Amino acid sequence: MIEWDEKYSLGIPIIDEDHKRLIGIINKAILSKEHNDDIEELMEVLSEMKKYVQTHFAREELYMVKFNYVEYQYHKEQHLDFVTKISAYENGIINADYHIASEILNYLSKWLINHVLETDKKYVDCFKKNGIMKETVNQEETEQGEGEERRSKLDRRSGIDPRKDH
Ligand SMILES: [Fe+2]
Repeated sequence: MIEWDEKYSLGIPIIDEDHKRLIGIINKAILSKEHNDDIEELMEVLSEMKKYVQTHFAREELYMVKFNYVEYQYHKEQHLDFVTKISAYENGIINADYHIASEILNYLSKWLINHVLETDKKYVDCFKKNGIMKETVNQEETEQGEGEERRSKLDRRSGIDPRKDH
């Protein structure tokens, strides 16, 4: 499990909320693996991760363009690599290679933390200077019309609500 720590905070609530939620999803995957090695459940969490990560990356990239961020191209490539990697894992699991589950969780956790601490951190000054603190989240866009039923089933089991701070 990854514990949210203030050291992961970029001091930009609109972005920190996304990062907390992504950590919540990874924790859900870790718990689902620990509990019962349920392959279907891991697939569900991976697909939730991919959906949410794309929403989040799109949000960051939108601001990068809006604020003329110099490292936009490089940052965007990092995001794309991550989405590609999740898809590769999904395919690996479909091919019944369940042994990669631990590798997946390890990779997702490490990538996210490193990305936040190194790559995301670099845009903080630029974003703040350009008024990121005045931006607000569009809740509908965040939810992506996702099935509440599926999420609540998983969340009940893991005891985690990724929409709240943990
Ligand atoms: Fe990022």
